Amino acid sequence: MNVCESDKLGYAFSTYGILRVDNILDADIVILNTCSVRAQAEQKAFSYLGRVEEFKQQKPNIKIVVIGCMAERLGLKIKQRFKDIDLVIGAKNADNIVFQIVSLCDVDDTKKQEQIDMPSDIVRYITIMKGCNNYCSYCVVPFVRGNEKSLDYRTIVDGCSLMVKNGAKEIMLLGQNVNSYQYENINFASLVEKVAAIKNLKRIRFMTNHPKDLNDDLINIMVREQKLCSHIHLPMQSASNKILKAMNRKYTYEHYLNLVDKLRTAISDISITTDIIVGFPGETDQDYKDTLNAIKTIRFGGLYVFKYSKRPNTKAFEMIDDVPIEEKKRRHAIVLEESNKISAEIVLKMLGSTQQVLVEKIENNIMETRTRNGRKVFVEGNKNYIGKQLNVNVKEVKKNLLFGDIV
Ligand code: 5AD
Ligand code: SF4
Repeated sequence: MNVCESDKLGYAFSTYGILRVDNILDADIVILNTCSVRAQAEQKAFSYLGRVEEFKQQKPNIKIVVIGCMAERLGLKIKQRFKDIDLVIGAKNADNIVFQIVSLCDVDDTKKQEQIDMPSDIVRYITIMKGCNNYCSYCVVPFVRGNEKSLDYRTIVDGCSLMVKNGAKEIMLLGQNVNSYQYENINFASLVEKVAAIKNLKRIRFMTNHPKDLNDDLINIMVREQKLCSHIHLPMQSASNKILKAMNRKYTYEHYLNLVDKLRTAISDISITTDIIVGFPGETDQDYKDTLNAIKTIRFGGLYVFKYSKRPNTKAFEMIDDVPIEEKKRRHAIVLEESNKISAEIVLKMLGSTQQVLVEKIENNIMETRTRNGRKVFVEGNKNYIGKQLNVNVKEVKKNLLFGDIV
């Protein structure tokens, strides 16, 4: 989501003649788009800010701006800690972000020109809703991003059309919980239908889903709409009903398992990926083992596993963080190892199969392509194939990477 937002900002700035540079040494403005979801993300941002401040001592005219969730959450405290920061703009205050930053610089507003830095990437991202109302007990997002708000479907469809006009072949629809998208009488399934009607758009993906809101409407449209890719990211977090309840997730493991069955029955090649938190307050060895067993039973196509970290304002902040860090690390490592093992087995099974892939980019005649269920396949080719869908035969698996030939 932050990548998508940074992308959009880059585009907006380019209309003022402010362009991205690859190297910070060439920058006049440094904009740090921050995330607050886990404590580690904030620590990273702090250490980066320390380095940028040192850099400012050598190049005093450089402007430093901090935006996003950490800016929302900590606001002036960031400025107090890093005196050289010029501007802090919180996520809820993002509407006039471009104007605020442009005002800081010596930019001639009258020279504002037409959009010039629209990325021509094959895969693009678009935000369809902001904020979240779910208040999972560990999560800071509702506090820093505010209440859930679906964006006007007309603006979304226009945005997608423009991306396709600029060369996009695949669009990822983004929101904290796309399953609860609702704008006037348009729900998520009808939004997908509208986006799918865009000519020359070949693929649609979406992220992220909430097991309590994923409904048959969506499963049906995944079956019906060929442009929708066969991948779903469905965060499970835990398989212990006690922990799910304490997390305020509003579903049980049995409900989750039922969704997995439904999805797999309806879409045979679907890849289901997930998020897991280990070491949530009160997670016993048995709760954690339940999650590990669920991972073995479900066999996710991939997963992200996080060690629980206490976030301010959240319900869980009040709970006793009673799983020692060493134990969190141990559970984290075992989940990761199990998931890698399963992933490797899934990938190995693809050997010899024919896959429909979209060619995303090319480097030294090796094309980076992606299957409908989200696996990367490297294929020899040339730049004429970029943006095309091809059938490839998977001929080799090396270190979990797939290599194929055009058939
Ligand atoms: N601690 C650890 N992981 C967290 N996540 C969200 N909040 C926390 C937290 N406080 C994870 C969840 C979520 C993903 C984006 O980040 O698994 O799905
Ligand atoms: Fe956070 Fe839960 Fe909302 Fe996801 S659904 S953003 S985990 S509160």
